[in-house]
Amino acid sequence: MSGLLLVVVVIVLGLKWVVLRSRKLRKLPPGPSPLPIIGNLNLIEQPIHSASPNTTLPWPTAYPLYPENTSSTITPPLVPVLSTHRIHSFSGIRCDETKRLIHRLAHNSRHHFARMEITSMFNDLTYNNIMRMISGKRFYGEETDMSNIEEAREFRETVSEMLQLMGLANKGDHLPFLRWFDFQNVEKRLKNISNRYDTILNKIIHENRTNKDTDNSMIGHLLKLLIKSDGRLIVRAMLFGGIDSSTGTLEWSLSNLLNHPEVLKKLRDEIDTQVGEDRLLNESDLPKLPYLRKVILETLRLYPPAPVLIPHVSSEDITIEGFNVPRDTVVIINGWAMQRDPQVWTDATSFKPERFDVEGEEKKLVAFGMGRRACPGEPMAMQSVSFTLGLLIQCFDWKRVSEEKLDMTENNWITLSRLIPLEAMCKARPLVDKIGSY
Ligand code: HEM
Repeated sequence: MSGLLLVVVVIVLGLKWVVLRSRKLRKLPPGPSPLPIIGNLNLIEQPIHSASPNTTLPWPTAYPLYPENTSSTITPPLVPVLSTHRIHSFSGIRCDETKRLIHRLAHNSRHHFARMEITSMFNDLTYNNIMRMISGKRFYGEETDMSNIEEAREFRETVSEMLQLMGLANKGDHLPFLRWFDFQNVEKRLKNISNRYDTILNKIIHENRTNKDTDNSMIGHLLKLLIKSDGRLIVRAMLFGGIDSSTGTLEWSLSNLLNHPEVLKKLRDEIDTQVGEDRLLNESDLPKLPYLRKVILETLRLYPPAPVLIPHVSSEDITIEGFNVPRDTVVIINGWAMQRDPQVWTDATSFKPERFDVEGEEKKLVAFGMGRRACPGEPMAMQSVSFTLGLLIQCFDWKRVSEEKLDMTENNWITLSRLIPLEAMCKARPLVDKIGSY
C-alpha cells in the first residue's frame, strides 16, 4: 500500500515539475501552480479579484492587451443605441423614475428621520430606467403603479433566476467533459430560462413592431438593428451590463458618503451653492457639480462593479512585458487590484474624492474597461448615477442607522455588490414638496 502511495506522489510531483518547467520555457505569465488535470479550477470559487496577488499580473501589464489583441466574449453593436443624442432623449424617463424614488423615500420621512432599506429601491430604479427605455414599460416598484402586473411578475422572476444562474461557477465551462453529466443541472435550467426570457422579449418586440410611434424610441432603433443582428442579445447585454453595475455604484456611493460625513457635507454645499434650495437639481446642472463626479469616480475606483471586467480572449499570440500569452487564452484583467495598487495611487485604500483634483488621475481608472471593447454604457451610467445621487443629497438629510461605520464587506459574486443590503436614515428637506404627487 505504502509503495503505491509513493508511486502516486512521485507521479504527481513529476507532472508538476514538467508543467512548471514547460511554463518557464514557454515564458508564460506567472501564476499559481496548476494541479494535474484540473489546473487551477480549485481556485475558481474564490472571488478572483481579491485572490492572492500571485494570480495577478502587475498593474501596467494588463494595458497593452486592450486595444488591438483581445476581443470581449459578447459583441452586440451597442454604441449607436447608446449615442449621446439618444441618452439625452431619455432624460425624461430618468427624471420621472428618480422622482418616484424620492417620493417613496419621503413618504415616512417628512417630519423625522426614518430608517429605509435602500438597495431594493435602487434596484427598482435602475431596472425601470433601462426597461422603460427599451420597452416603454415599468416592471419594478409598487404594483399599483403598473398596468401590466402579470407580465411584470414573470419578467422579474425570469431575470432573478437568470442572475442566479449567471453567478454559478459552472465547472463544465472549464472541463467540457463534465457537461455530459451536468451535475449542477445548469445547462437544463439555462435552456429553460432562456426560452422564458425570449418569449418575453419577443412579445415586447412584437408590440413595438406593430406600434407606429416607436421610430424615435430605443426599441425602434433596436428593431432596425435587428435586420443586421439579434436584438434580443442587445437587450440582454444592456440588462445584464447596465443594471447591477448602476445599482452597485449608487449603493457604494451612498455608503461611502454615510461613512464620510465630511465628504457628504462638502457635496451638499456644492449642490446648495450651484443649484440652490428653491428648485430641484436637473441633468443640465451636472457639469456645474465637479465634486459630485469625483465622489462617483472615487467610488468606482474602490468598488468597481465589474471587478475583473469582462473576460477577454487573445485573438493572436502576444507578448506582454516579456511574457508570452498564446492565442485563445482567456485574459482576466483585475481592475479591482489595479485601482487599489499602492504603487499607482497615493493612500490607495482611503476614500478621497479630492485625489481627482489632480489632472490625469481619472485616466488611471479602468472601471469601464478600455479601448475598443470598453463599456458603451459609460456616458449613460455616469449621467443617471450622478443625477440620482445629486437629487438624493439635495432632497434629504442622511445619516447611518447607528454610530458604527457601515460594514463595507463585498458580496462574492460576478458583480461587486454589498454583502449586507444598504440601510440608512433619511429626513426630507422642504424642497421635497417640489417633486409633486405620484
Ligand atoms: C456604473 C455603471 C457601469 C460600469 C462600472 C460598467 C462597466 C463595464 C465594464 C468594466 C465592461 C467590460 C469592459 C472590458 O472588458 O474592457 C462593460 C461592458 C459592457 N457594458 Fe458596462 N458598465 C456600466 C453600465 C452600463 C450600462 C448602463 C450599460 C447599457 C445600458 C452597459 C452596457 C455594457 C455592455 C453592452 C458591455 C459589453 C461591451 C462589449 O463587449 O463590447 N454598461 N461595462
